[in-house]
Amino acid sequence: MEYVHMPVLAKEVKEYLIPPTEENPVMVDCTTGEGGHTHMMLNSYPNLTVYGLDCDEHIQEKAKYRMKNFGDRFIPVHTWFDDYFKDYSGPELDLVLIDLGISIYHYEESNRGFSFKKDEKLDMRLNEKSDLTAQMVVNSYSQEDLANLIYKYGEERYSRRIAKAICEARGLKKIESSNELETIIFNCVPQNYKHGRLHPATRTFQALRIEVNNELDRIESTIINATKALKVGGRMAVISFHSLEDRIVKWTFKELAKTCTCPPEAIYCTCDTKPLVKILTKKPIVATEEENKVNPPSRSAKLRVIERI
Ligand SMILES: C[S@@+](CC[C@H](N)C(=O)[O-])C[C@H]1O[C@@H](n2cnc3c(N)ncnc32)[C@H](O)[C@@H]1O
Repeated sequence: MEYVHMPVLAKEVKEYLIPPTEENPVMVDCTTGEGGHTHMMLNSYPNLTVYGLDCDEHIQEKAKYRMKNFGDRFIPVHTWFDDYFKDYSGPELDLVLIDLGISIYHYEESNRGFSFKKDEKLDMRLNEKSDLTAQMVVNSYSQEDLANLIYKYGEERYSRRIAKAICEARGLKKIESSNELETIIFNCVPQNYKHGRLHPATRTFQALRIEVNNELDRIESTIINATKALKVGGRMAVISFHSLEDRIVKWTFKELAKTCTCPPEAIYCTCDTKPLVKILTKKPIVATEEENKVNPPSRSAKLRVIERI
């Protein structure tokens, strides 16, 4: 079997994700994907057990195959990570990894319209049991809702223009494929935006994917609940790929590390707040130039790590 996704910041993840005990440590990989990081961790710690979560059962089949030699040290779980940690009652955890977003597999092999470089049905669901598809979003949302979501989740400056073009196009014919949508976007943006560093459809496609999979709303509760599941000395690493994700990770970590929750006008601290974690990465870790060259998606990756105290 071929694996198309190269794990980002793998060396750095390994440097930070050190279990507090070598005695049968337990890790949850919230976003196993094809299992690049999990494979590295299982190889590094012979007593480690990894619960490998993924909401996409197709990519999970690849991870299962890749991990077949590790026997029951790899336990695949088909679930959204926020659902998994909602009422968590499993073992105390030594390590948690969250490598946000989607895998190269989704662009190249899934056939679900994540990439505008291919002509595929506009679906974009990571979990095929979900109700909402990208086709439903582009064909049924109001022009205003479309513009708002493209602006909010894509940080796209031509969001209004793109939403208008989508609504005009769907008035003539239902928008069904990734190429159709790409053409609509390409044709409606100003000339100088057509040939910039980013393809003009990139941000809209990102926004649709985030909307369809409700990606951002799942992060904060997962970090908080997974932190509570960590044993003292246990560590959590989160890799994000755009500012919307990184902002949530950064602020959630800060909240968990807070030593005082008194109102700002208080002269003395009376709250007795006990921080749950310490932050191990003052600034996010980013990929080296060397990694950027061999693994271009790593360019936008940011790694932040906390330790339970
Ligand atoms: C960036 S890839 C992970 C790559 C992996 N670390 C590796 O080294 O191969 C993210 C994976 O997480 C899954 N995923 C994204 N959001 C998820 C969520 N909320 N719950 C569970 N899995 C999720 C995606 O289906 C995808 O397979």
